[in-house]
Amino acid sequence: MSCKERVRAAVEARREEVNDAIDEQLPLARPERLYEASRYLLTAGGKRLRPTLLLLVAEALTDTDPQTQPYRSFPDLTDEPVDLMSGAVSIEVIQSFTLIHDDIMDDDDLRRGVPSVHREYDVGTAILAGDTLYSKAFEYMLETGAPADRQVRALDELATTCTEICEGQAFDVEFEGRGDVTTDEYMEMVELKTAVLYAAAAAIPAILLGADDETVDALHQYGIDIGRAFQIHDDVLDLTTPSEKLGKQRGSDLVEGKRTAITLHAREQGVDIESLVDTDDPEAVTEATIDEAVAELESAGSIQFASDLAEEHVENGKQRLQRLPDNEARSLLEDIADFLITREY
Ligand code: IPE
Ligand code: IPE
Ligand code: MG
Ligand code: MG
Ligand code: MG
Repeated sequence: MSCKERVRAAVEARREEVNDAIDEQLPLARPERLYEASRYLLTAGGKRLRPTLLLLVAEALTDTDPQTQPYRSFPDLTDEPVDLMSGAVSIEVIQSFTLIHDDIMDDDDLRRGVPSVHREYDVGTAILAGDTLYSKAFEYMLETGAPADRQVRALDELATTCTEICEGQAFDVEFEGRGDVTTDEYMEMVELKTAVLYAAAAAIPAILLGADDETVDALHQYGIDIGRAFQIHDDVLDLTTPSEKLGKQRGSDLVEGKRTAITLHAREQGVDIESLVDTDDPEAVTEATIDEAVAELESAGSIQFASDLAEEHVENGKQRLQRLPDNEARSLLEDIADFLITREY
């Protein structure tokens, strides 16, 4: 099996269980419109990469086969049961909250192949649905049944993560209006808005299961490295993948004037990135305009530059896994790192 096939099989084997757990923990309650809007994106799809990562880290750490040990009562490092699935649901629910608010901020109409929440419902409902998911995620993280000290540490990690995502999103928007953003600033923004959630997904299972501090730190750093690579690749996909495949509007970053590794590199090569598309008139931007912009970025070597940069971070991330026992789940964590920058959507 290729790396892609192995990851696909690993994610698929866990996705159904994650989906059932989400359904169970986030039922359609009253007010119905609020809970409908909160569940809407979660049921529309999504790759479920972060919850899968969380479950795989737990399997790798404890050498446990999920076939024999259910995630709802997963043996920690002293053989006491922990409800790991609650942690996995928490992470995916945070992911969903950030997507709902991100689409409002980025003025994006399409997500997971369906209208974004603020388009399907309205902006007020989308804000509230995001807020609901945000706070629900903390409730779920409190339901793992881990010893109190670990529970507090996991909540601390989650809270810090959410603050950092907001900081990253604020930089993302601030940079749209600035022509002098550096690659270092971009990397900091990417770490905050995206990589920290991968870091939480990798570190939280280690915290909940009682791993030592060095292991928790190594896993956190693994998440940061592969999460950086994930976002750099996301920025490439925004340009190169048709909307139908991506499930989001292609070229949205150009229309919004986002700063990415690609446009920052192009600017250094003398490309006038402000003139690639007319950000003042988004309606007038056609597929042909995007194609032309992509051709220019390609010939400046900027897409290749971004892909190389992503690969560097993936390699760094894989090194961090040395601290884990050498087993099947660890090798899947290496495959996931590679998958994040070879995925097509
Ligand atoms: C999208 O994440 C948000 C970013 C950080 C770029 P994913 O590409 O993992 O989205 P889903 O969860 O599969 O829809
Ligand atoms: C995603 O950045 C960051 C968060 C969702 C926090 P993007 O704005 O690039 O994500 P997509 O491309 O809309 O999924
Ligand atoms: Mg966006
Ligand atoms: Mg955004
Ligand atoms: Mg994007």
